[in-house]
Formats: sequence, structure tokens, C-alpha cells
Amino acid sequence: MNFPVTRLRRLRKTEAMRSLVRETHLRPEMLIYPLFICPGEGVRKQILSMPGVFNLSVDEAVKEAAECAALGIGGVLLFGLPEAKDEQGSGAWDADGITQRALRAMKADKMLDSLVLIADVCLCEYTSHGHCGLIARDGEHYAIENDSSVALIAKAAASLAVAGADIVAPSDMMDGRVEAIRTALDAAGKQDTPIMSYAAKFASAFYGPFREAADSAPQFGDRKTYQMDGANLREAMREIDQDVAEGADMVLMKPAGPYLDVIRATRERFDLPMGAYQVSGEYSMLHAAFERGWLEPERAMMESLLSIRRAGADFIVTYFAKDAARVLG
Ligand code: PBG
Repeated sequence: MNFPVTRLRRLRKTEAMRSLVRETHLRPEMLIYPLFICPGEGVRKQILSMPGVFNLSVDEAVKEAAECAALGIGGVLLFGLPEAKDEQGSGAWDADGITQRALRAMKADKMLDSLVLIADVCLCEYTSHGHCGLIARDGEHYAIENDSSVALIAKAAASLAVAGADIVAPSDMMDGRVEAIRTALDAAGKQDTPIMSYAAKFASAFYGPFREAADSAPQFGDRKTYQMDGANLREAMREIDQDVAEGADMVLMKPAGPYLDVIRATRERFDLPMGAYQVSGEYSMLHAAFERGWLEPERAMMESLLSIRRAGADFIVTYFAKDAARVLG
């Protein structure tokens, strides 16, 4: 017998052979594209740290969504940049708020029927201080209040569902918000609207460019008292347990690339649908390397997405959604 008997290279000889034995696949319908909706008309404002990503007024966002639908992309995730901000973030639950208007415009457009419209639910884009909850001040000290924030977040979720969101996705990381949102949705007649909770969301440096895109950087302090410590895997499982017990229909992990082990652990332990969010910093970092000619754009992009799928994600929120859908054809 010739040595070695096992020659794994036999199955790598041609693209046809590799394709036959490929274990993980990407398809456009498992990609979700984030949209940042801003006031005005005809506005398409480039986000400096995210090449190819824009702040879009409602009319432009509808066009962008139509492009996504034509590419076979599964859904869009909506973020709002309101006209005005206040301490409470009242724009988040305004029936005529920026995201609510975008949702209504998108629901009215038949061309967008193939897209799942997902509304991010949080206060940070709407609060003057940029935190994801209400601030309680005590002299020099401040704290992000949990329960009063949850009540407002639940109100925002119901308002977004009524405006047309197919899924609501709370990204605030307050305790108890999934249950409060479920109750608010049911009370608003939205028993059939699923909740996709950002169940394990880490306090990450990789959100940097997003905060320019969504104008949501905290004006003081950081998010470490509500978003998770990046060192903790077991705690991530407890977060997911909690959200599942409160009625989450699906979960979203975030960021993706630096937390592939958390995605894998979640896949092995939970049976509900799970997405992963390849966040702004992951996108910008790759783009910076593309611009310098240091990485091949298409290959590096597809490899980054494939690794998230291989880790176990059913779907991926990514700023590469359109580019990847074009590659996938
Ligand atoms: C809002 C929110 C953030 C992101 C999604 N929802 C920012 C944050 O928590 O600071 C980040 C997305 C990205 O970086 O692409 N709570």
C-alpha cells in the first residue's frame, strides 16, 4: 500500500470536486443589510469611516431597499437618525418618528415584499446623551437605569411594529426587556411580531464607525455597565437563557468575527434561529486593508462571512450584504 493511504488532497483537485464536498454555504437570503435613515429628501450622505455606506433619507432608503430586494438579500435592519434628540429619547416611540416613517414607506412598496423589515430597538440614537437607557444623576455620579429604560424600549418596539416592522430587534442590553417588549407587542395587537434579541452583545471597540453612522456615541462614560465584558463566554449563555425564557424568537450575536467561539457555543446549546452581526469596525477594518491593496477584497470579504456561517450563524447582518449578494449571483 502506498503511503499515505489518506490523501485529503484528492478531494481538492478541481473546483468541481471542491464544490461537491463543500460543507458551508452562503446565500443572499441569509444576509441582512443595515440602513441608516436620516431626515430630508434625496439625501445620500457617505459615512466617512464606512466606504459605500450612507445615511439615507426615507426616499433614498426605499431605493436602497429595492436594490437589496433585487439582489435577493433576506432583509434590512433599520436604524433612525432623528431630527431632534432629548434626554429620554422620545423619537424612538414617536408614531411619526424617522424609522416609523421609513417602515411605512417600505411596507407600501410592493417591490420590497421579499425583504424582511427588521427594526433595531434602542434609545441611543434618540437620546441627547447617547446612552441606550435613561440616566439617573446623583451629583458627580450617574447610572443607566434599567427598569424605567425598559418601559420606554418596550414602547418603542410596539410603535415600530405598528409602523410595519416584521421583526423588532432590541439592542440595548437592559435586563428584562424581552418580556416587556413581548407584553407591549401583544397589547398593541402585534402578537405575531417576532423578537430578535441582541442576546449577547459585547462592549466592543468594533462599534466605533457605527457611532459616526448613527450619531450615537455616548457623550460621557461608556456602555460597560450594560453591554457584556468581552472576556465572558459563560455569561453570554446566561444572557441567551434569559432572553429565551422571556420569549425571544431568535437571537443575534454581536460582534461576529472576534466572537466566533461564542457563536459556536450558542449554536451547540440553543435550537432557536441565530444570527450574527458583522459590525461596523469589522467592515471598516477590512476596507482599510482593501484600500491599501493589502487584502483581496472579494476573497477576504467572502472568507469573513463564511467563517461566521461555519461558526453556526443562520444569517448574518453585514455591511457587505450587497457586495456579497453580487458575488453569489
Ligand atoms: C445600538 C447599536 C449599536 C450597534 C448596533 N446597535 C452601537 C452600540 O451599541 O454602541 C453597532 C453596530 C455596528 O457597529 O455596526 N445600541
